[in-house]
Amino acid sequence: MSFASSGALDPRGPAARAIADLWWLMVALGGATFLIFAVVLIGGLLRGSASAEDPSDERPSRLILFGGVALPTVVLIIVLAFTVRTMHTIPNAAPEGALQIEVVGHQWWWEIRYPQHGIVTANEIRLPVGRPVEFLLSSADVIHSFWIPELGGKLDLLPEDVNTLVLQSDTPGVYRSQCAEFCGLQHAKMRLLAIAEPEKSFSEWLARQRAPAATAGSPSADKGQQVFADVGCASCHTVRGTAADGTAGPDLTHLASRRTLAAATVPNTREHLEGWITDPHAIKEGVAMPATELDERQRRALIQYLQGLR
Ligand code: CUA
Repeated sequence: MSFASSGALDPRGPAARAIADLWWLMVALGGATFLIFAVVLIGGLLRGSASAEDPSDERPSRLILFGGVALPTVVLIIVLAFTVRTMHTIPNAAPEGALQIEVVGHQWWWEIRYPQHGIVTANEIRLPVGRPVEFLLSSADVIHSFWIPELGGKLDLLPEDVNTLVLQSDTPGVYRSQCAEFCGLQHAKMRLLAIAEPEKSFSEWLARQRAPAATAGSPSADKGQQVFADVGCASCHTVRGTAADGTAGPDLTHLASRRTLAAATVPNTREHLEGWITDPHAIKEGVAMPATELDERQRRALIQYLQGLR
């Protein structure tokens, strides 16, 4: 899978930009300090080998005062001042009317809710470009951590509290995110896509997501919907507009509209969907979803049904 993202030093929003600026300042100051140190050290080595030590020479103690006290004090004061300034430029409360997105961490996937719009999805966040978004972060089990490097962050998702993070994307793009706190066996495969898009396509997406699931339509997909209920998928997954209302796993109402499966572990293709249903542990060992035994006809029907959930 290729994504247009390349990390915290490629900031795409105001919070990330402030943090990246601070990082560059620290690199510059650290680099300059190192250079001064290297010049003095090399000078001392050259001189030391050329002449014996003179007890009346006061240069060593002046050097210690400068390099050990004055220089670090000045550098640390500058870094402190800019850190405090950066902390103030990153908002900790969203402006009135901001878009709210609830993110709930699970082992090992992300539940994404848009409470103002009645939408529940998983492992993929859509957000409008140029508008602040208030992320309300929590966890259903252990501590996870939310971080979209290009947009800023990072902040823990706690089981018993809600943390708030305000982020904004200034340019459209697909940003890759990864749980940033070790949370068990498949921590590394707890990934997330954040897709920032222009307001117009964002509201079109909202409208599509608000709609109930597409009705099965063809006889085979009808059969697939029946299989979904019969083999137990419905006891863990919700498909809005049908009888399926499980909450243990991701909401599948618009599964086929997502780009990835298994928390951005594999692309959302027919082959991977099939592999995920028949043997999820081969893709993500230890995952809560059990392997589902299906005969050939059931499998084809179920896949057709799921791929119709656009
Ligand atoms: Cu969730 Cu690491």
